[in-house]
Amino acid sequence: MKALYTIHLFLFFFLFFFNFSVEFSFSQISSQRLHDFHYLNEAVDLADKKLTQTLQELAFDPTLHPAHTDPETGKWISHTRNEWTSGYFAGSLWYMYQLTGDEKWKDYASMWTEDMKSTANMSNDHDVGLRIFGSLGNGYILTQNRQYLRAVMQGANSLASRYNPDIKAIKSWDPWESLNANYPVIIDNMMNLELLFLAAKYSEKEEWLNIAVEHAKTTYKHHFRENGSTYHIVDFDDQGNVNRKFTIQGYGPNSVWARGQGWAIYGFTMAYRYTKRPDFLEAAIKAAEYFIANLPDDNIPWYDFLEPSIPSTTKDASAASVAASGLMELYSFTDQPKYFDTSVNILSSLMTHYSSQNTSDSSILLRSTIHRGDKERGTVYADYYFLEAIKRYKEITGGVFPQIETELSFYLEQNYPNPFNSQTQFYYSVEEAGEVQIDLYNLAGKKIKTLFNGRREPGTYFIQLLDGSGLASGFYIYTLRMNKKMASKKMLHIK
Ligand code: GLY
Repeated sequence: MKALYTIHLFLFFFLFFFNFSVEFSFSQISSQRLHDFHYLNEAVDLADKKLTQTLQELAFDPTLHPAHTDPETGKWISHTRNEWTSGYFAGSLWYMYQLTGDEKWKDYASMWTEDMKSTANMSNDHDVGLRIFGSLGNGYILTQNRQYLRAVMQGANSLASRYNPDIKAIKSWDPWESLNANYPVIIDNMMNLELLFLAAKYSEKEEWLNIAVEHAKTTYKHHFRENGSTYHIVDFDDQGNVNRKFTIQGYGPNSVWARGQGWAIYGFTMAYRYTKRPDFLEAAIKAAEYFIANLPDDNIPWYDFLEPSIPSTTKDASAASVAASGLMELYSFTDQPKYFDTSVNILSSLMTHYSSQNTSDSSILLRSTIHRGDKERGTVYADYYFLEAIKRYKEITGGVFPQIETELSFYLEQNYPNPFNSQTQFYYSVEEAGEVQIDLYNLAGKKIKTLFNGRREPGTYFIQLLDGSGLASGFYIYTLRMNKKMASKKMLHIK
């Protein structure tokens, strides 16, 4: 009897503690069963040192965008704002601002972001997505600056113009002769979709969301092999049939380019964040399982998982940092400790064996491979995703971030163009969450239509009034209402 009582008592305490632990915040659970990243402060200090060194090296000229280091000197080779890598330096500066709260990082981030604005109209390849998201997208998310959102919308428009509804994918590159392709779609293109998801979230543009979803579905269908590894490039004919699957940055057509596999993990996890579609989570998990199962002992992949000359080939620290950031987020959606632990193992290995802690190199991380046959070197994207992964680790484990002031106030913008014929657009901001209503009235005070009615989180949003054809020529009033606040503006429609 006494034994039974003891068992009951034990069970009671077991259940009590079990229930208690599921009520606990994530950070407390993590300290019980997940790996710790011991180098968090050291990594931020190293980033502070190397980004400061970089700014000096660039003579504080924001038209220079560091891309990768010279393998001999360790100093940056910079490109113009038009390269695929050019949004990343601004993005790293935004992450430093977020991690430290030091206003100097905001000032530098703003300088480099400002220089990227004019690239929002570039539609010559898919990388408008990375350039604009890295700089203006991150800047917008942190500060809610309206001008940044304007460039995000322009960039999304440029990217969406590359979508073909017959192929159901964005054309990543306009093929050049030696590529021998018709409509190349590359696994990296998953990363560019974040610009469309972000722009769709802050506007009424369902078609941008649909383009991103369709592109990701096509990628899942055609880029993945049965074992979860991915092709770099899939080329389509004009009807959407596959011409060929191959790589130009990895080892060979049937090999697995490591950064591409990292793009797949990160890209599908991010697509799941915005859509909550189970097939995107499934794709992210498949890509992650392949990546993790094929990592070498030090957790940093060779530039291609199936390169026959391993270990006499190059590593790719950038593939590792992209994957570390993606896996950290994948953990938050799956609660699978393996994803968190692998991310931490990668970050620890990068910090202890692949960083410039004891060298004079200007990049934070060393030993990335841009493409097959290239020498190892620092890259701006390896550093960016390293910082992002650290930020995500800190968020997930309940770390305290400095307070960041946003630039939000209750605001209704004058529409543009005004007067307008077929379409006009405007931005509005709300500084608190709540029900928002935007209506269009004629001058007699009759409501013509409701342009938006729904809940909004604090932020700046975009509205495009696309069809003026049903409206008579003349003046109209549009109003923004939230709680007891109201703002209104006049617009002129000309047939
Ligand atoms: N998106 C280009 C690369 O990963 O090299």
